[in-house]
Amino acid sequence: MRSFGSALLSSLFLLLMASTSFKCEGFEFREATIESIRQAFDAGELTSRQLVEYYLEQIRLLNPLLRAVIEVSPDALQQADYADRERRSGRRGGVLHGVPVLLKDNIATRGPLNTTAGSLALLGSVVSRDAGVAQRLRRAGAVILGKASLSEWAHFRSFSAPSGWCARSGQGRNPYRLSADPCGSSSGSAIAAAANMAAVTLGMETDGSIICPSSANSVVGIKPTVGLTSRAGVIPISPRQDTVGPICRTVSDAVEVLEVIVGYDLRDRATLEAIKYIPKGGYKQFLKVEGLKGKRLGILRKAFFNFPTGSVEAQVFEEHFRTMRKRGAILLDNLEIPNFNEINSIGGIAEEIALEAEFKLSLKSYLSELTYSPVRSLADVIAFNDRHKVEEKVDEYGQDVFLSAENTTGIGPGETKAIHLLKELSKGLERLMMEKTLDAIVAAATLDTSVSNVLAIGGYPGITVPAGYGKSGVPFGVSFGGLRGSEPKLIEISYAFEQATLVRKPPSYLSE
Ligand SMILES: *[C@@H]1O[C@H](CO)[C@@H](O)[C@H](O)[C@H]1NC(C)=O
Ligand SMILES: *[C@@H]1O[C@H](CO)[C@@H](O)[C@H](O)[C@H]1NC(C)=O
Repeated sequence: MRSFGSALLSSLFLLLMASTSFKCEGFEFREATIESIRQAFDAGELTSRQLVEYYLEQIRLLNPLLRAVIEVSPDALQQADYADRERRSGRRGGVLHGVPVLLKDNIATRGPLNTTAGSLALLGSVVSRDAGVAQRLRRAGAVILGKASLSEWAHFRSFSAPSGWCARSGQGRNPYRLSADPCGSSSGSAIAAAANMAAVTLGMETDGSIICPSSANSVVGIKPTVGLTSRAGVIPISPRQDTVGPICRTVSDAVEVLEVIVGYDLRDRATLEAIKYIPKGGYKQFLKVEGLKGKRLGILRKAFFNFPTGSVEAQVFEEHFRTMRKRGAILLDNLEIPNFNEINSIGGIAEEIALEAEFKLSLKSYLSELTYSPVRSLADVIAFNDRHKVEEKVDEYGQDVFLSAENTTGIGPGETKAIHLLKELSKGLERLMMEKTLDAIVAAATLDTSVSNVLAIGGYPGITVPAGYGKSGVPFGVSFGGLRGSEPKLIEISYAFEQATLVRKPPSYLSE
């Protein structure tokens, strides 16, 4: 035990102390699912207040170490009391009634919580209303517990900043191994879900920001089809790629939350287009234990399962493939996305060109809607950082992506060409899936490898599920991806895989 040893020991000690005082007849707080919470509410064994108190205590004990939460709602207990009163008076409320939720700090909330993308530049800015997804959560009865940390500006300020760092809450840590990368940019959401600091969390992905932290922190992340969930009131990078999705401990929890947050929002045009993908009867019907039966799965072996022979990862995935077959899936092995190299080479450059211009424009539009803000443009934010070099660690991490984005002047011929190219490149996955009549592609999700860019450029969905733990105890996941609107199939596959493997275990807080 070195750097975090003593902090760790005292935290674990406190945690033990705390968990003894949080015994509720018949209810297990640790790893609680939405369903178990709902049942305990209905049976009168648990109140929303008790649940919120438990998570607040977890945050108080673990957050100094993990830095997963930026702010806690000052009125979280009042929200819980309100839900409890409603329940006592016979009103059952929505499916998340009384359930505490943490939101990535780029998702706007009205009221006492700040919305800052982790940056000091937005501290004190006032939003005029809740983000579309926050509205839906409240309507479903959720308690907004607080804001989760993230890689500052969803990792769009500079390339050299580490994942999980933001000026407002410092360096987030991987609860499985504190020295390991928690990945980002929805780092705090994934860490908090893993460490039982909330029942459920929301993240946002532009390219990898749900998939990667979910895999690194052994939780389930759903990156929905772009437009399925509203981005209104979310600090943006790109309307073409941004998508809000749940990060939870189980597939069924993530699906419960997905069902709540999808749908039309007049403030986000893309939601109108995506309505056609929402199945009648919702998403929960696809939580089938036999969901792997008959599914044609494309194993992208060369690109994503290239692990050294004999490594933990290689062994674990071979075992998973056997399990999938045993559960009735048809595995099409050694498949390749036909234009995978182009996606990674010219696609990477095109994505950068497009995202930088889109970011400058969409940030301006987000900032213009704020009731009050100390900054109103990317130029203002850059100037703010220059004035707060120490707090914002500008000399250390720079703001090269910001500077490059500031140089853009809208969607000109270069950007139009880049966006067109990305659309063309996204057809590679479409072609593979049609030719082999696949239900999903399968890719390992580790700190070094992720299928996120393939999915990002097409607005395609993906679900990441815990798959194992490496030699050093750092978790890795598996991603199931498909074409726009394929959530029902991806849910069937990932739920059946999760139920057949039950890989997830709570964090071990290893210190080196
Ligand atoms: C929001 O930020 C302000 C500083 O501008 C701070 O005083 C306040 O406590 C923050 N809100 C919460 C809920 O932490
Ligand atoms: C911005 O544009 C100017 C003028 O073309 C150029 O000199 C500078 O290097 C650019 N800066 C970045 C960060 O791209």
